[in-house]
Amino acid sequence: GITRHYKFDIKLQKVTRLCQTKSIVTVNGQFPGPRIIAREGDTLLIKVANHVPNNITIHWHGIRQLRSGWADGPAYVTQCPIQTGQTYLYNFTVTGQRGTLFWHAHISWLRATVYGPIVILPKRNVPYPFPQPFKEVPIIFGEWWKADTERVINQATQTGLAPNVSDAYTMNGLPGPLYNCSAKDTFKLKVKPGKTYLLRLVNAALNNELFFSVANHTLTVVEVDAVYVKPFKTQTILITPGQTTNVLLRTKPKAPNATFVMAARPYISGPAAFDNSTTTALLEYEKASSPNDKKKKNNNRNKLPLVRPVLPQLNDTSFPFKYNQKIRSLANAKFPAKVPKAVDRKFFFTVGLGLGSCSKRQACQGPNNTRVLAAINNVSFVLPNTALLQAHFFNKTKGVYTTDFPANPPFKFNYTGNPPSNMLVNTGTKVVVLPYKTSVELVLQDTSIIGAESHPLHLHGFNFFVVGLGSGNFDPKKDPSKFNLLDPAERNTVGVPSGGWVAIRFLADNPGVWFMHCHLEVHTSWGLKMAWVVLDGKRPHQKLPPPPSDLPKC
Ligand code: C2O
Repeated sequence: GITRHYKFDIKLQKVTRLCQTKSIVTVNGQFPGPRIIAREGDTLLIKVANHVPNNITIHWHGIRQLRSGWADGPAYVTQCPIQTGQTYLYNFTVTGQRGTLFWHAHISWLRATVYGPIVILPKRNVPYPFPQPFKEVPIIFGEWWKADTERVINQATQTGLAPNVSDAYTMNGLPGPLYNCSAKDTFKLKVKPGKTYLLRLVNAALNNELFFSVANHTLTVVEVDAVYVKPFKTQTILITPGQTTNVLLRTKPKAPNATFVMAARPYISGPAAFDNSTTTALLEYEKASSPNDKKKKNNNRNKLPLVRPVLPQLNDTSFPFKYNQKIRSLANAKFPAKVPKAVDRKFFFTVGLGLGSCSKRQACQGPNNTRVLAAINNVSFVLPNTALLQAHFFNKTKGVYTTDFPANPPFKFNYTGNPPSNMLVNTGTKVVVLPYKTSVELVLQDTSIIGAESHPLHLHGFNFFVVGLGSGNFDPKKDPSKFNLLDPAERNTVGVPSGGWVAIRFLADNPGVWFMHCHLEVHTSWGLKMAWVVLDGKRPHQKLPPPPSDLPKC
């Protein structure tokens, strides 16, 4: 591979959306941020210089960071933030991966505006395992807030109440014509008839799982989270924050007399209020024409009728199960699915919301002077004031974290039934320590303590295999016999279904400290996160090297 250099200048930029201009934190003044392109095997040197008042870090979401954990990016997990006026060089090699990923700020809620796609092409002269597309188009979903998102989350943390929701969903930063004052901010994809397009879809939204459809066009899913899958056709994609999906879109053989709407809308299961907003973009056919009559024809095409897609019903709770069941690894000789067959350690984690007690100065407005928190096995994770990875590497863990993160919930109850009598959760900075190359099985169970919700769980540093998925309570006697160990989806973010569970397996072959959290920013802020400490192996190439000299200090 080669070495590619990027410069990320973090700076404020005035951006107008929905008839309102505000100053947002950006990379190089761009919103969404610049695209990173590399090939499998390349080394990326990305120099991040912070010119804004906020502290910042950047995370390369889905990049495995094999023995390069210092470049992973989550604030207070692998590094201290880059402070105003400072720089940090992220240095990592893309090993054994190709596909669509993304980068985003990984501190507070700055990823609301600080994000962009990562495209990793296969090695030179290595084809895709699907028809070579005519064109590749990244589409990155996001949210637009009229308010300052840092203020939104600070206020929510102070009061213990739910933060405000965004004002629009976006595609490539543009809300589209269904929002007030947004018609000119519409993403348009001009296509030629009879061609295959590769859409690289990324969900960078803060808090919503999304449906995505293109009117009158079937999509063929060929990759998720930068791993090829057995191709399957669908009218609608379901994509949680933190997930990426590559689809092939074959255009009609002849340019039809219509313009087609591409739409994304949140999927919210359970009784939560449905946010009826939909972001739309346009798929416009170009007609082959001589240069002379081009102008006239294109004018006519502006007046073509609009065809809208049909998205699944909001209450279609079976859709996520059906859709996710279809995602299967290629599992062939060229792309084997390396599912751990034997398991060294089993974990059962409950994920969900609960109530936390309040300190006096927080003035919490929740029931009985409590605040809403989110927890794994009743532990609501608190970030330390220094980075976990530094504490681990230099063996200075005292007062930073403890190693007693529970492998099982502290008490059993009907997770998808009535809430238990005690809904209070504990706070703490606890980790699980895993010896090098531990083979892990982890069952993630959604709880309905305060309403059932789906949780996109993201694991840093690894891909995992989704070996099981079900509704209701996980049954340790019956369910494991149905696990798929042949061709399960391999990914870095999985939706724990509302009122259900997923089982994943991974091999802890990457020494370092690896964050795992719900990729809904509101749940992360409330504590739905934890970390795995993976110890060095015995051989030199199984150890994490020391930190770079410019690693920021807290
Ligand atoms: Cu994309 Cu820890 O996140």
